[in-house]
Amino acid sequence: MKRLVSVLKADGVDHSLITIIRTILAASKELSFRIGQGELSGVLGSTLDENIQGEQQKKLDVVANQLIKELLMDEADVKSLASEEEEFVVPVNGQGKYVIAFDPLDGSSNTDINGQIGTIFTIFPAISDLAANDWRQFSRKGSEQICAGYILYGSATMLVLTTGNGTRGYTLDLTHGGYLLTHPELTIPAQTNEFSINMANQPYWLEQTKLYIDNVHASENSYSMRWNAAMVGDVHRILLRGGIFLYPQDKRAQYPQGKLRLLYEAFPMAMLVEQAGGKAIDGNKTILEQRLSVLHQRIPVILGSASEVDVFKCSKSHRKYYTFYN
Ligand code: F6P
Repeated sequence: MKRLVSVLKADGVDHSLITIIRTILAASKELSFRIGQGELSGVLGSTLDENIQGEQQKKLDVVANQLIKELLMDEADVKSLASEEEEFVVPVNGQGKYVIAFDPLDGSSNTDINGQIGTIFTIFPAISDLAANDWRQFSRKGSEQICAGYILYGSATMLVLTTGNGTRGYTLDLTHGGYLLTHPELTIPAQTNEFSINMANQPYWLEQTKLYIDNVHASENSYSMRWNAAMVGDVHRILLRGGIFLYPQDKRAQYPQGKLRLLYEAFPMAMLVEQAGGKAIDGNKTILEQRLSVLHQRIPVILGSASEVDVFKCSKSHRKYYTFYN
């Protein structure tokens, strides 16, 4: 089975970028070990602090953020960092070639129940004439990403990565501590009968979401529903067997622009999904064509099987669904 580095070399990935990816993965291996220890690791549970997003912060979030940040700050080729757990951009080295954004622990409310959690990251080329502490290093379009990936800490620890040559899956081999290529070419089937949405938000949905779900219920395809409460787990399932994931805009006052973050959730997941033949939109427009306008910007996210995402996009009437498929 091929090792990560030989796959990246064969894909023509720059040596300095390989080094950055390996540094992120060094942190992921320590996290995987700590998470695997569960209650024994002494890092689960809540601190009394709140993170800058106003959500309750878990100890493991702090550990994950610190670990990834400290390892990347030692890398000469890193210019700036952005993290869900940092209010501002973290400057690293003014001469660095790359800027990196990450969600250190996605789905952290799953930590206490031994559920799926993950680390999501994205890498852009640095902008040479902007300072390392200038947030505009990250004011980019999703299409400018040169690498995107996540590490899923599930029953196995898996890395799913793209550098623009398709989306590949690797599994952490605990016997030697390396990631081995187990899914050389992840491809999302165009059609699906599996959808993923938090149905508890139904009272707040906008018309497009209501119509789409009404059509799903009326369909003869006998849909089934899955919801992990961790985007990383839902996207992983979709990359492996298809489906549609929806965190749409709704009427709740605290999330006027959707809940998920554009920079370190929507952008990397959209690149991974599109590189696997799927689609990712904010309801109407392609996510990768959006430009970040505020560091911790939120965005509605609908992604997965291409035809199903088109069905959502066209959900303007109850008849549209049938017209689309027939
Ligand atoms: O953004 C964090 C996150 O945990 C995602 O991973 C997940 O998809 C979503 O929030 C779950 O939100 P909710 O608790 O509203 O279902």
